[in-house]
Amino acid sequence: MKLLITGGAGFIGSAVVRLAISRGYSVVNVDALTYASSLRNVEVVAEHPNYQFVQEDICNGTALLRTLKKFQPDTIMHLAAETHVDRSIDDPEKFIQTNVHGSFNLLEAARAYWQSNQCPETFRFHHISTDEVFGSLPNTPNVYFTEDTAYDPRSPYAASKASSDHLVRAWYETYGLPILVTNCSNNFRPLSAFQKSLFLPSLRLNALR
Ligand SMILES: NC(=O)c1ccc[n+]([C@@H]2O[C@H](COP(=O)([O-])OP(=O)(O)OC[C@H]3O[C@@H](n4cnc5c(N)ncnc54)[C@H](O)[C@@H]3O)[C@@H](O)[C@H]2O)c1
Repeated sequence: MKLLITGGAGFIGSAVVRLAISRGYSVVNVDALTYASSLRNVEVVAEHPNYQFVQEDICNGTALLRTLKKFQPDTIMHLAAETHVDRSIDDPEKFIQTNVHGSFNLLEAARAYWQSNQCPETFRFHHISTDEVFGSLPNTPNVYFTEDTAYDPRSPYAASKASSDHLVRAWYETYGLPILVTNCSNNFRPLSAFQKSLFLPSLRLNALR
């Protein structure tokens, strides 16, 4: 199986790339290499015969479609995004550009690819989103977000991710594009970039991401 992973030089995307390669998948990593990325994250797979890297901005729809038709993936895993809440407060435009406009471009490229005779029958578009789109949980044990929780984004980052979730769902309802949307909670690791390196057990992680 061939995966096209956007944002595969970032924190989570690079872990997905490494895992996928270790499990025998072929991977095309599409990443614009913004400040949040590092090719060192994927150094261990860089020479692997099943791995290819394409430096591309998801805001460039023409280039995306060309890449999809060239590599003909079975699945797109869409992780590329502007991600830090604090940065979204200082500079929201970039978040709208990448998370909304970029996701729209990727959906349109995926739709054109899916409708072509080059796309496998089992094609899926997996959109990786965040629980931030549901707002904040009360400070009470055993209260969870579920699939039925109403959207309630509270930062430019969360609003831009909520927008992309709605676009992805609309591309399923309107065009039938086979999609999955997952809304994960915070991921962190020792010594990861920026705020992630400040994580301490006592911090409210929602405040950071
Ligand atoms: N880290 C978390 O705790 C967390 C939690 C929930 C959801 N998510 C979601 O998971 C995904 C990955 O998060 P992360 O923490 O790995 O992010 P990250 O900021 O570490 O990495 C994002 C990657 O996307 C790339 N990118 C940014 N703009 C791009 C563009 N216009 N075109 C192509 N590539 C671009 C960057 O170069 C970078 O490699 C995001 O969609 C995020 O919303 C993350």
